[in-house]
Amino acid sequence: MEDLPFWLSLAQQTGGPILELGCGTGRILASLARAGYPVVGLDIDADMLAYLKANLPAGLEPAPHVFLADMASFCLGREFPLIIMPCNTLSSLPAAVRQAALACLRLHLQPGGVFAASLPNPVVLASMPRLGEPEVEDDFPHPITGNPVQVSSAWKRTRREFILDWQYDHLLTDGNIERLTARTRHLLDPVSIHRAGLSQAGLELIQEYGDYDRSPYQANSPYWIFACRPA
Ligand SMILES: C[S@@+](CC[C@H](N)C(=O)[O-])C[C@H]1O[C@@H](n2cnc3c(N)ncnc32)[C@H](O)[C@@H]1O
Repeated sequence: MEDLPFWLSLAQQTGGPILELGCGTGRILASLARAGYPVVGLDIDADMLAYLKANLPAGLEPAPHVFLADMASFCLGREFPLIIMPCNTLSSLPAAVRQAALACLRLHLQPGGVFAASLPNPVVLASMPRLGEPEVEDDFPHPITGNPVQVSSAWKRTRREFILDWQYDHLLTDGNIERLTARTRHLLDPVSIHRAGLSQAGLELIQEYGDYDRSPYQANSPYWIFACRPA
């Protein structure tokens, strides 16, 4: 988890409680909770939240709270010193959802509070070839059968989107292969559009980085990572 130290150090600067938008299976949320921060997570996918709840370590204090909700229209009735959206979620949201989410999260930031997010650098994605052939990325033992699962990915780039197709091939005991596929789409909106969206939502940029080591953002950086606060 190359990004975890970044989110932990941000939490150390601001303190909690921390709200994670699109917390998924709890990859970051669980680590923040283990580090002792009060955490609240929300996600639109019930399966992700079911996995998260089933895998949270028992006895975490304070206990994390997670909600099934759309980040474009949620109301928790409280404010946070830190709201995060890790792991490229922001660029996967349709533009209208993204803008509604920014407006909504702005209402959940306490005065001086910080919202931070990371996304793949759109300049780099836009310069990729139009097609990337399937490539093996990883393999791991299936959590239930123990048989190998091979993960491969392929991509397609259009003028507006970078579409990433993941393939999980689970080798069954009878020799057959069970294939699961998942698709992630990233809008190629330039950083200038994101900056304008933040400003429109009443958020002022305070930090921009090109990687999780806090190196400066450049056209060839792998990520655009930013922190902002209420203007
Ligand atoms: C790339 S995953 C990131 C998961 C987690 N933050 C992490 O770092 O591992 C994006 C997550 O955002 C969630 N998501 C997408 N659109 C959403 C929405 N409108 N409201 C809430 N969650 C959403 C997805 O269900 C998914 O769990």
